[in-house]
Amino acid sequence: MSIPTPHIEVKDKDLIAKTVLMPGDPLRAKFIAEKFLDNPVKFNNVRNMFGYTGTYKGKKVSVMGSGMGMASIGIYSYELYKFYDVENIIRIGSCGAYTDKLSLYDVVLVKDAYSESTFAKCQSGYESDILEPSSDLNDMIKDSAKNLNIEIKEGRIHSSDVFYREEPDVFKRLNKEYGCVGVEMESFALFANAKSTGKRAACILTVSDSLVTHEATSSEERQNAFTKMMEIALETAIK
Ligand code: HPA
Repeated sequence: MSIPTPHIEVKDKDLIAKTVLMPGDPLRAKFIAEKFLDNPVKFNNVRNMFGYTGTYKGKKVSVMGSGMGMASIGIYSYELYKFYDVENIIRIGSCGAYTDKLSLYDVVLVKDAYSESTFAKCQSGYESDILEPSSDLNDMIKDSAKNLNIEIKEGRIHSSDVFYREEPDVFKRLNKEYGCVGVEMESFALFANAKSTGKRAACILTVSDSLVTHEATSSEERQNAFTKMMEIALETAIK
């Protein structure tokens, strides 16, 4: 396949940077581009999955929505890696806490992702239910967080295909059996695509709700409070 792809319309590869930050929500991509990037240019409108490229501290950086779930991030991240020559994708998302050791707005660096999903098996025959991010990117992220004086907590995330589950208190089982500290819905597919294309991926999350305490944040609070995570990702993107 060549560019443009079925889901990304830009015809010039150079209009997408080698490092792309991926929030789930395309409106958050717009927010990041407008708040942090100089001269942002929109490169994608297809399905309103907005993508922008601009400069941060003089270096080219892109930011694009991934949508929710592994099917969605699976499509966008593959097209970016394989057809637009993107080298690094840093997902910046939200997660639900599975442990009382995580509080609302804590920043979590994904050490690895556990999933019941068949994504990696179907995509490339990868059989394990655990996938790791790039250790180089994770080291760079830890370094950026340290320089910004932002505390990050590392842990295993549960990448779930299902938001609404019938099994009561499934979080307790997954915390106990697999050591998952929280849940989101995208990392496992992103890491699978990075592995099969030989590229790099990482994931930084902000705790948006707790399955333990049932506390939650409003969508408006989230937009602003996630700034810390965005700054860590932006500083990493220009390293
Ligand atoms: N479940 C799945 N994904 C999530 C959650 C959750 O509770 N919170 C943020 N992303």
